Amino acid sequence: MSQAFDLLIRGGTCVTPNGVEEANVGVIGGRIAVIGSLSNAKAAEVFEAKGLHVLPGVIDTQVHFREPGNEHKEDLESGSRAAVLGGVTAVFEMPNTNPPTTSRLALDDKLARASSRMHCDHAFYVGATPDNIGALGILENLPGVAGVKAFLGSSTGSLLLDHEDDIATMLKAGRRRVAVHSEDEARLRERKPLAKSGDVRTHPFWRDVETARVSTERVLRLARQAGRRLHVLHVTTAEELPLLAEARDFATAETTPQHLTLAAPECYERLGTYAQMNPPIREARHRDALWRAVSEGLIDVIGSDHAPHTREEKERTYPDTPSGMPGVQTLVTILLDHVNAGRLSLPRFVDLTSAGAARILGIAGKGRIAQGYDADFTIVDVNAKRKIENSWIASKCGWTPFDGMTTTGWPVATIIRGQTVMRDGAVLAEGRGAPVRFVETLAPSAA
Ligand code: DOR
Repeated sequence: MSQAFDLLIRGGTCVTPNGVEEANVGVIGGRIAVIGSLSNAKAAEVFEAKGLHVLPGVIDTQVHFREPGNEHKEDLESGSRAAVLGGVTAVFEMPNTNPPTTSRLALDDKLARASSRMHCDHAFYVGATPDNIGALGILENLPGVAGVKAFLGSSTGSLLLDHEDDIATMLKAGRRRVAVHSEDEARLRERKPLAKSGDVRTHPFWRDVETARVSTERVLRLARQAGRRLHVLHVTTAEELPLLAEARDFATAETTPQHLTLAAPECYERLGTYAQMNPPIREARHRDALWRAVSEGLIDVIGSDHAPHTREEKERTYPDTPSGMPGVQTLVTILLDHVNAGRLSLPRFVDLTSAGAARILGIAGKGRIAQGYDADFTIVDVNAKRKIENSWIASKCGWTPFDGMTTTGWPVATIIRGQTVMRDGAVLAEGRGAPVRFVETLAPSAA
């Protein structure tokens, strides 16, 4: 039977629920219609993917796009441009903007700003504060919301929820999985004098292993007591891993490409404050432990924690320098380079960057190449070898900690709901991103 598709992706090696297989993928109405040989298929558009791998669209579950309030560093347009250039089809954006995303008004404002300007699909986290705890159970169910995020220790911006009673109340104030930045605020305050002026190498001593460990231990205990699902963002220490392993019935974990790639003290000696982020990059023993956690299935997702700051801000004197580095555009190539080096299989890459996000956050119709799912694809050339350069970075900050690194494995195209948004380094379709939908908060549909 001859079928007519809107888009046919032909001859690629697809990572599907069946494994890694050569298949053609037919798309109708923005969804995957057929996966198979499709020898007689007709299509309005054909993407010749021979020699390429067709992966489910990469979902970056942690980005900071700075709008509103700090558009000199990034905005929803520039951040999402960087995303699609890097092969990312959807992003979940963090609430530490100015004003922070802590109310319905602020959420509506972000969704309105995203509409017709963001190049990829998107959802926003709502920030927990001592003042909005009572509203979180309602806010987390609004359309376009990825869930609640709580900063248990202070980082960039004003968001903070550090008192034990408030954390416990917040964990009882809703149902969806809660994402946390896990560093202990009291210990951060006590140790701040250890951050030595002009010496960023002291960053991981100020924000030490124990700061992360005690916070994670406490929040796991409180989440267990509340019966609430928890997601610990950017896990950085070997010491948190056994705690997480004891909590797999309700807790999930993220780490970042930076923490899997860089290590102290070398990164601080080479990059200075450009390597400063929270929680910090630590010594190689933590990086090794995180890789073991990746291979043992303890890490559920890898998010970029894309957190751009300008060069001018980064070149102030530590510790007056902001923490964070961009990453949404380099996530795919850095991880494919690890695939190439044998640290990660391609199916595990997919598990960490699409299927894992869908599983832990309940994303509706995304995260796998399967019939009826959104036609989101990250098409990659696993053999392409190129140097990452600052000049390639579309983020307003204009730099990457990976400048000068040659990686093997690059995104070739970004396809979102059947539309080729990026191809060979050019953005082809502007501002077509839509809010991501979640299974726990599906709105009633007229259809
Ligand atoms: O390094 C970081 N930067 N860690 C965070 O938690 C926040 C982020 C930012 O927004 O700059």
